[in-house]
Amino acid sequence: MERTDLSANRFRHASPAFLGCRTPTPPRLAFSRHIWYQTASHSPYVVPMTTRPETIAIAADHAGFPLKEILKQDLEAAGFRVLDLGTADATTSVDYPDFGAALARKISTGEVKRGVLVCGTGIGISIAANREPAVRCALVHDAITAKLARDHNDANVIALGARVIGVETARDALTAFLNTPFAGGERHDRRVAKLSPKVTS
Ligand code: RB5
Repeated sequence: MERTDLSANRFRHASPAFLGCRTPTPPRLAFSRHIWYQTASHSPYVVPMTTRPETIAIAADHAGFPLKEILKQDLEAAGFRVLDLGTADATTSVDYPDFGAALARKISTGEVKRGVLVCGTGIGISIAANREPAVRCALVHDAITAKLARDHNDANVIALGARVIGVETARDALTAFLNTPFAGGERHDRRVAKLSPKVTS
């Protein structure tokens, strides 16, 4: 796989809040699914090392809209493309199942591999997304639940509750979601396979 030179990466000055990593760490490579990441010594960011940036889908209802906008900016600043599936403002009341389902369809068709959902609690939108068999959406509350959702459950979507957690906690959770590979191994593979027996991707 071709990798870009991180020192020439135009995203290396991305917003420090994104990674949630408080102390700079030495350069390190980690493989998560089909994406290589490098933690740069001069920056707390983990930047995708692919020639074409990965697209992350994001969607929210009116309650999640302000947090969605913040996370979208963070993702773009870190070098991801963002497929924003709405909603478009915080004042027009909308139905969270519509947005959970819209993002789930993008996962199901393979258009995107990973997604982020936000509603007031994260509950309704995660239920909606999980009706799609290809989706393993984890309602996460912080970095540790986001990390374990990847580590143990191979979650491909996270849901966040904008009325439940603060912005920095949401950022930490998103960072952990993006940077944690699935642990795999016989035990976790077997359990994850039981979540969606007919889904092979
Ligand atoms: C909207 O008021 C609220 O019900 C929704 O954002 C979410 O919390 C549902 O689970």
